[in-house]
Amino acid sequence: MKRILIAPSILSADFSALGNEISRLESAGADILHLDIMDGHYVPNLSFGQPMIKAVRGISGLPLDAHLMVTNPADYITDLAEIGVQWISFHPETDFHVHRLVHTIKQYGIKAGLVLNPATPINVIKPILSDLDYVLLMSVNPGFSGQSFIPSTIAKIRELRGIIDQNGYQALIQIDGGITDQNAADVINAGVDIIVSASYIFNSADYGVAIKGLRHV
Ligand code: DX5
Ligand code: ZN
Repeated sequence: MKRILIAPSILSADFSALGNEISRLESAGADILHLDIMDGHYVPNLSFGQPMIKAVRGISGLPLDAHLMVTNPADYITDLAEIGVQWISFHPETDFHVHRLVHTIKQYGIKAGLVLNPATPINVIKPILSDLDYVLLMSVNPGFSGQSFIPSTIAKIRELRGIIDQNGYQALIQIDGGITDQNAADVINAGVDIIVSASYIFNSADYGVAIKGLRHV
């Protein structure tokens, strides 16, 4: 069986004790740190930017995954590359030249992903799917942690898994929004490779137990 990667989103961490939170995630077996970057325009929420990501880079050796929920993703790539993030995803509707931006990200040696909101069809990314390192399927509308999983996402995961497998593409499938130990098995069975989770992990007393619950081991 393939190993499911767990990418806690630090959006629900205690920012006043971020160093401690991140070391708890590392001891708990997190594979990747998911960074939700929100600009207050693309989504109605502001999260954090380069200074905080740099601070996180300074204290953790885990791969950093920047999920850009911003209206001008191209403006962030150089800074994020300099800081040393390893994964960057953006929403295709936020850039006029999606193919170019995907390849700009890849030229930095960074894994490039595109993000589909719950109402965005897979067709939007089909022409560029062979070039992607990952696809992030949103199972909530972006902007906030702590929302409920949208059940129709399961069929979307299955559809995307089928297209990737039939064509021999390399893209991994990441799922983000409302994932708990109650629905992790469903998204894994449907075909995801990477699970993002914020509130479920950070509301747990023991992050290690929570992460194991998501992996279903
Ligand atoms: C939502 C973010 C998610 C969010 C997940 O816009 O992209 O990464 O933090 O939070 P939970 O797991 O609480 O739904
Ligand atoms: Zn996210």
